[in-house]
Amino acid sequence: MKHIKFFDTTLRDGEQTPRVNLNAKEKLRIAKQLENLGVDIIEAGFAAASPGDFEAIKLISENIKKSTVTSLARAVKKDIEIAVEALKNADKPRIHTFIATSPIHREFKLKMSKEEIILRVKEMVAYAKSFIDDIEFSAEDAFRTEKEYLVEVFNAAIEAGATTLNVPDTVGYRTPAEVYKTIKYLKENIKGVDKVDLSIHCHDDLGLSVANSIAAIQAGATQIECTINGIGERAGNTSLEEVVMIIKTRKDIFDGYMTNIDAKQIYPTSKLVSLLTGVTTQPNKAIVGTNAFSHESGIHQHGVLANPETYEIIRPETVGRNTDSLVLGKLSGKHAFIQKLEILGLHISENKIEDLFNEFKKLADKKKYVLDEDIIALVAGDAAQIEGRKIILEHFEISRKAGQKPKAEINLLIDGEKVYKEAFGDGPVDAAYKAINSALNDDFTLEEYKLESITGDTDAQAQAVVFINKNGKRYMGRGQSTDVVEAGLKAYINGLNRLYKENN
Ligand code: KIV
Ligand code: ZN
Repeated sequence: MKHIKFFDTTLRDGEQTPRVNLNAKEKLRIAKQLENLGVDIIEAGFAAASPGDFEAIKLISENIKKSTVTSLARAVKKDIEIAVEALKNADKPRIHTFIATSPIHREFKLKMSKEEIILRVKEMVAYAKSFIDDIEFSAEDAFRTEKEYLVEVFNAAIEAGATTLNVPDTVGYRTPAEVYKTIKYLKENIKGVDKVDLSIHCHDDLGLSVANSIAAIQAGATQIECTINGIGERAGNTSLEEVVMIIKTRKDIFDGYMTNIDAKQIYPTSKLVSLLTGVTTQPNKAIVGTNAFSHESGIHQHGVLANPETYEIIRPETVGRNTDSLVLGKLSGKHAFIQKLEILGLHISENKIEDLFNEFKKLADKKKYVLDEDIIALVAGDAAQIEGRKIILEHFEISRKAGQKPKAEINLLIDGEKVYKEAFGDGPVDAAYKAINSALNDDFTLEEYKLESITGDTDAQAQAVVFINKNGKRYMGRGQSTDVVEAGLKAYINGLNRLYKENN
């Protein structure tokens, strides 16, 4: 069997999605889910980029056992040393080092000649290899690099000890036929290429990242770099779930190929990532979008009832959707709750189960059915909690007299001190935020507030996401509740707690 390895970069390239900013605890939650999903390599971040990235890679390295954990590093000594330090407790560490190779990057960004780049590749791959055996080398903007030169660069990387060669379409420029041709050319011309993994890394600027990744597999690539829900810089990266399901669904084409991915974990992972990053998927997104398995027209519904295969090429259960055989409600006990967590692949430590179960009970009192999405949201909400919170919401009330603006009365604990504030606003959330602002009397600004329903029912939980700006730095906050004002308040307080945690 040909093993196609999945290299997930949700926590590195995915986190480069504008505005997304995850803390170490949230990244660990996602990493655990990626491991459950069966991802072969988790790119946990870019250790030299920030202390936050370093801390997250270290935490993930200490906790992930099955998947390889990697950190990105520019082809410079300092970056490699920081990556090595962050990965030092990983069971299976990998250094992922890169340098750009295309003419435009050589001339305008690096101001380096072809020869200088080759020398740097040799030195830095060998340097990384002196610490860790598993070395991936990426030629940034490879698909706009002269193909003969690209072969020289990759030859140098292999000679210096690289075990994976990654070919990125950094700007999402190529078409499937071109990708196929280039990968075939590299397979035929790099010395020793069959002893290493040849990897593809695509961006979605022209909407071709998945098609290009598939073309690369057909030309002989053995590793796919991708993100959950396709999140990433600009138009994003290759969607893991789409590539996996193409390989699994089109067995006629991918006969003899295998992956380590457990497809049933796709939907829970997608939901967890979208809740924690605040980046929702469009309804018609393949595999994971709300409508991906909905049949609207009568003709289609009739066909599906007679035989699902008339209009469905994938059963929703295959990707972990509609696991409704175990519907939870207020009478469900802890045993059923734990079983549901297991079905969703959400491995929770013993000491957390009790807290989560209490949260579940509170939710079940408000909602008739607690759906899979609600359970995933509870776990995401727990990962988003800031330890040592400065501000705690004790109680709030919203009232509105006829002809008047809504009034919010808020009881907070700020650094352990009880504070009561009231304010009027254009709407209940506005009033509540004004009350909090007056309690804090600080100069931050709310840049964005958005509200989304987690499930589609009328008693659905809403997730509010806010972005707060202080001194040019953005802090994201998230909150969820069946009460939309409470969701908004929780999100605001969560964002402010992140802000104060970093600034105190
Ligand atoms: O898109 C890209 O070129 C990258 C590399 C750093 C692998 O993300
Ligand atoms: Zn990239």
